[in-house]
Amino acid sequence: MADNTRIAVTGGAGLIGSSLVDELVAAGADVVVIDDFSRGRIENLSGVEDRIEIREGDLEDPGFASRALGDRFDTVYHLASRAFGVAYSEGRHGAILQHNEAITHNLLSTLAANAPARLLVTSSSCVYPDDGPDEIPELPVVTREPEAVNWGYGWAKRMLEIKSELFARENETALTIVRPFNIYGERYHWAGRFSQAIPMLVKRVLDGENPVVVWGSGTQRRSYIHAIDCARMMHALVEAGVTDGPVNLGTRETITMLDLVGQIASAAGREPQIDTDPSKPEGRAIKSADTTRFETCLPGFKLNISFDTGLARMTGWYDATDFGQAGDG
Ligand SMILES: NC(=O)c1ccc[n+]([C@@H]2O[C@H](COP(=O)([O-])OP(=O)(O)OC[C@H]3O[C@@H](n4cnc5c(N)ncnc54)[C@H](O)[C@@H]3O)[C@@H](O)[C@H]2O)c1
Repeated sequence: MADNTRIAVTGGAGLIGSSLVDELVAAGADVVVIDDFSRGRIENLSGVEDRIEIREGDLEDPGFASRALGDRFDTVYHLASRAFGVAYSEGRHGAILQHNEAITHNLLSTLAANAPARLLVTSSSCVYPDDGPDEIPELPVVTREPEAVNWGYGWAKRMLEIKSELFARENETALTIVRPFNIYGERYHWAGRFSQAIPMLVKRVLDGENPVVVWGSGTQRRSYIHAIDCARMMHALVEAGVTDGPVNLGTRETITMLDLVGQIASAAGREPQIDTDPSKPEGRAIKSADTTRFETCLPGFKLNISFDTGLARMTGWYDATDFGQAGDG
């Protein structure tokens, strides 16, 4: 990447976006962060705040979208989305689809007037159906329904992919599509009972909850990547010009929810009883990423943050979070 390349990062104050901004600034880019701070935080950008431009507003508002994205960018990384944990999604699939569709529509219709040379859009592993292989390859998204617990969000991400593909073809933009699996990190914005699994479990364990209750059977297996590594993967894929279809951002290795709680408890020096609540949704039994495509695109790429290190960092997140202020999502 040439110095002073002009880059827009939507959702650049969020968990993954802020790490991406750190990475791009370190590489010499001229970065504009576009975020409504609904979940992003200015503290996440404290290391680079004086070297970036921030455009604050809601991309669901067409007027703001055209002001924020109307000038010329070499590259746009699109990460802004309305996303919460599965407890939020239940009964709200239609609203989630509508909110995210509005963001997609405003983004692509604004960029059409001044198309960037490169565009990365952040899809999700939620586009995949609940059945199928445990290690999921980059399946096409138009067969079967997306995962049930994230039905509206999964459809929104499918629509984002399809509309972005058409945009890229018609505007000669190099399009990179990524499908992150479960991403965590200490810049996570606490969303009360709607929070994602790792921050939720870290808080419960460190609050001294006993027993800690895990949703579903507790034997469901998931793969996790730290947000800093996820951001590095996104950046590397764009720099490598990977534009021929979506790429999974995940790992093959998985951990059960019960083991995850055990590992968090041992990192925190706690010994809670761990119970399960089978009446709650748990999604597919095993969800892990077939990483063949990523490894082929970026041979030799290594994750920098091990799961043990990441969980230790999350206890620091717990100490630094003002849960009262952060609200209930
Ligand atoms: N974290 C995960 O496990 C995961 C997994 C798969 C996909 N993703 C996707 O990765 C992207 C980044 O996720 P994240 O985990 O960093 O989430 P995040 O909520 O921390 O970041 C999203 C950012 O977008 C901003 N935003 C939301 N709606 C906006 C709007 N209408 N206008 C302007 N800004 C808006 C938020 O304030 C936030 O800073 C999202 O598109 C998400 O769907 C995340």
